[in-house]
Amino acid sequence: MKKLVVMSGKGGVGKSTVAVNLAFALKKKGYRVGLLDCDVHGPSVPKLLGLEEVRGLDAKEGKIKPIDVQGVKVFSMGFMLPSRDTPVVWRGPIKHKFIEEALNNVDWGEIDYLVIDLPPGTGDEVISMVQLAKPDGSVIVTTPQSVALEDVRKAINFSIHAGIPVIGLIENMSGMVCPHCGKPIEVFGAGGGKKLAAEMAVPFAGSIPLDTSIFKSGEDGKPFVDLDSPSAEIFEKIVDDLLENLEAVKEELKRLEEKAKKAKKEAEKKLEELRKKAEKSKQG
Ligand SMILES: Nc1ncnc2c1ncn2[C@@H]1O[C@H](COP(=O)(O)OP(=O)(O)O)[C@@H](O)[C@H]1O
Ligand SMILES: [Mg+2]
Ligand SMILES: [Zn+2]
Repeated sequence: MKKLVVMSGKGGVGKSTVAVNLAFALKKKGYRVGLLDCDVHGPSVPKLLGLEEVRGLDAKEGKIKPIDVQGVKVFSMGFMLPSRDTPVVWRGPIKHKFIEEALNNVDWGEIDYLVIDLPPGTGDEVISMVQLAKPDGSVIVTTPQSVALEDVRKAINFSIHAGIPVIGLIENMSGMVCPHCGKPIEVFGAGGGKKLAAEMAVPFAGSIPLDTSIFKSGEDGKPFVDLDSPSAEIFEKIVDDLLENLEAVKEELKRLEEKAKKAKKEAEKKLEELRKKAEKSKQG
């Protein structure tokens, strides 16, 4: 099972929208998928999937049953909160415990991908999650307005330093299609995400336009990637890119590992030779 985390420098940039639709796009491609919403303070996956009324989950043999949404297994911190309006005041260690529970005690079954929606920033939960889950790759979401902010760079650096390869930076709400004439409008200026990705040497996975159908599908509790729309098509291309990058990262890691192994063997050989030489000169 490969674990992918979706991160962002700040909230409201569409991180949960990307996480949900990444999960459903992967499912559309034929993979078995789980979706874990780890945002304790603002779990929005229940809303995006029309699961706001779900409270508490069945457990079988000590394992919590995730909710099945069209074949995608979904677990959200939101399911475990007393009510929608209850603020969470948990301290770090409790959050850590909760995340451990979600990873180990939810019955994910046999899945190919676990998509994890993280809280914005690089705080407690994000660190816990990363320590516990050891994700295989991260997807970073930004908007054109926040590209210039320090937060998104922090998120990228955090991922790199935590040893999680960034498999794609996504610029969300990047321009829009005019509802009147269909022409593209650059609302906040575009291209910043691509530039930032190049600057920080991480792959750029693409741009998602500001699209009322994306907003509306979120309100309706349905993934927009299941609609027949230009944005859905754009998003599927982005997911292809992410998978390609994940594969490339895996190959690169394998290559580096083999290189390290070979270097180690050579060093051992050299050491052995030196040892023999030293012994010979001692005898002679
Ligand atoms: N490309 C987009 N076009 C229109 N609305 C969007 C787009 N991406 C996200 N939204 C909307 O913006 C709001 C915030 O998105 P969300 O995914 O919850 O952000 P985050 O998880 O980063 O806080 C939601 O109402 C969502 O439906
Ligand atoms: Mg969110
Ligand atoms: Zn127009």
